[in-house]
Amino acid sequence: MKKKTILVFCAILLGSFSTLTAQVKLQADNVDEVLKAMTLEEKAMLVVGGNRQIASSADNGMIGAHARRVPGAAGMTQAIPRLGIPSTVLTDGPAGVRISPRRENDQNTYFCTGFPVGTALACTWNAELVEEVGKCIGNEVLEYGCDVLLAPGMNIHRSPLCGRNFEYYSEDPIVTGKIAAAYVRGVQSQGVGTSVKHFAGNSQETNRMNVDEVMSQRALREIYLKGFEIAVREAAPWTVMSSYNRINGPYTQENRELLTTILRDEWGYDGIVMTDWTGLRNTAAQIQAGNDLMEPGNESQINDLIDKVKSGALKESDLDICVKRILQYLVKTPAFRAYKYSNKPDLDAHAKVTRSSATEGMVLLKNEGKTLPMSGVKTVSVFGVTSYDFIAGGTGSGDVNKAHTIDMMQGLSEAGLQVNSKLANLYRDYKTYQSSLTAASSRGGRGWGRPLLPEMAVGLPIINVQAQESDLAIITLGRQAGEGSDRHEDGDFTLTDVERQLITDVCNTFHLAGKPVVVVLNMGNVMETASWKSMPDAILLAWQPGQEGGYSVADVLTGKAYPSGKLTMTWPNNLIDLPSSASYPNIRQAAPRGRGNNKVEFQDYTKHLEGINVGYRYFATSKKEVSYPFGFGLSYTTFTYSKPVVKATKDGLTASVTVTNTGERAGKEVVELYVSAPAGGLEKPACELKAFAKTRELQPGQSQTLTMALSLYDLASYNEATQSWETAPGKYTIGFGASVEDIRLTVTYSLSKQYSVKCHDVMKPSMEL
Ligand code: BGC
Repeated sequence: MKKKTILVFCAILLGSFSTLTAQVKLQADNVDEVLKAMTLEEKAMLVVGGNRQIASSADNGMIGAHARRVPGAAGMTQAIPRLGIPSTVLTDGPAGVRISPRRENDQNTYFCTGFPVGTALACTWNAELVEEVGKCIGNEVLEYGCDVLLAPGMNIHRSPLCGRNFEYYSEDPIVTGKIAAAYVRGVQSQGVGTSVKHFAGNSQETNRMNVDEVMSQRALREIYLKGFEIAVREAAPWTVMSSYNRINGPYTQENRELLTTILRDEWGYDGIVMTDWTGLRNTAAQIQAGNDLMEPGNESQINDLIDKVKSGALKESDLDICVKRILQYLVKTPAFRAYKYSNKPDLDAHAKVTRSSATEGMVLLKNEGKTLPMSGVKTVSVFGVTSYDFIAGGTGSGDVNKAHTIDMMQGLSEAGLQVNSKLANLYRDYKTYQSSLTAASSRGGRGWGRPLLPEMAVGLPIINVQAQESDLAIITLGRQAGEGSDRHEDGDFTLTDVERQLITDVCNTFHLAGKPVVVVLNMGNVMETASWKSMPDAILLAWQPGQEGGYSVADVLTGKAYPSGKLTMTWPNNLIDLPSSASYPNIRQAAPRGRGNNKVEFQDYTKHLEGINVGYRYFATSKKEVSYPFGFGLSYTTFTYSKPVVKATKDGLTASVTVTNTGERAGKEVVELYVSAPAGGLEKPACELKAFAKTRELQPGQSQTLTMALSLYDLASYNEATQSWETAPGKYTIGFGASVEDIRLTVTYSLSKQYSVKCHDVMKPSMEL
């Protein structure tokens, strides 16, 4: 049916209907009544995204009073004016709101704040801070007339090659869940919703629309679903976004075992599930699975649903369940309250929040001879094209349309450093030239963000002059990645030849002149460091720290702020060291295709051969050497841990430890709680992170006692033989760690009898693993 036909059809139908029934309008407490008053066509339209013009006699042909449109927002839900149902607006995240910054015939601008990317936020290990950032983002959602932020991204960093890792938090589900819950609480405190995504298993971008992620039930529950479970239980997101991919056979969008049995029946979720932005898939299967909303929505889906109900292929009562949940969602939205948004969030205040939150997620990887914070440094030579073309965030739907990105030059100059202008001019000319080449070849479309400019080769004569003229050299290395494709190993995970030469020449020359070199990593993901980390004096992992990035980096380099971030993922020596590399796309030495990762025309799968051995779970157990371990991060000061105490509680334990700043500068410390289970039960990793806490700012000599609570459920592992979460009796070792390789103190905790929670035997692997 063509659009016009639908409109006319609806106009007639709704017109006659409204003359027959008394006008019921949606209110917070009459959802059932409204559902009863809806026609089949209206129900089908409500579960399919978009906001088609509906003419009805009751509204004189006008779209509903509450209907709004926000240019550049990713999607909408349908308004049904005669029933007082407003349209609602769904906009992308997670690093900020993604809408068009300019509108036709409008002089105003609609820029949003570019906050630090998800990985950077997670590396703060500071749930309170993430909640504060969430509040600012939620405020921009509200004030720009949107209802739901399509964030946070919660997929697991199964491999450093995943193009979207910058949007996600960690290789660990506990960090992922806790940080996501804080983010959701922050955004939703503003009276708008979130959509935790992509539920689930979307840990690769290669063929993300079709790939079957084949995994054991245990890996699914413990690694890939656990973070979502925590966020759902602790923060009640208004919406969940199902992923594009399949898991163990069916598409997640069509999987009732995932969207109903696990999500709703086991975890108690009562919000709506929407699809990722797919076209036509099996509409009936999605409704039956409990996927309430199909985004972005098209007319063929509406017609298909109507036909299926009429032919009996889909029960109207099944459709009603989804419609009712959407109505329950609608009454919570700003659109329903007819909130008068300003289009003027306080961008200056939010810029301050992004500047300071970014520094807290930065990870100091190396700092020999207390190179940082700089002292007595007046002049600097700044190498690396990314210094002049700083990267605030990744590409794709997670790219925020921000008004500016502060680069390293601005940041360092405003911090009072003299940046060598000869070198800067050389890079600026190079940047202008390279940008003109990329602009000419760039593909239009959705505006996927700026690609990375190739590094410039700098000759030794130039470096020699710089080493004479400056007190210190900074080299910024950049990486860019994003939605739709995965990264590559050569020259992306590893250094390019030009980069390796640059680091070697700058380090050799500056060191000969007795001057230090600092490398700043401006990326959203992990890269190879083992082969070159010995060369520079200091390495600061700045991540993609948002629009104020240059200021944030300068704050840390100069000591105005200090880094207190720690890694939420392992930095391996080589990609092939990761067990996931046996089946991840784009790995040079991976197993032959057909074993773990296969692409035959309609049958593309990735077998998770490593099971639960993702990231540090594998490295800590196999004791394989890494470049930087999970949980690692240096500080400008030092901390000691003392007085470890573990107390049994009614349903678990509390663990506390006292942290003292024993250095000479202020700082904050993250304490990671690792648990090693007694032998004899299920096979477990050597240790697993079960909780974490961060101190407030501690001045030299100050102490703080951190207390973390754990339930027996938190300690449990998933037993496929009994389909239960089980915590075996015996002696547990509770370790307080500064990283997974640096567990400072341990205490034991004994459990006398087994604890278990029975689950459903669902989502079995579709192939042998
Ligand atoms: C992405 C989602 C995003 C959606 C709407 C999809 O391609 O996978 O993360 O929210 O588009 O832009």
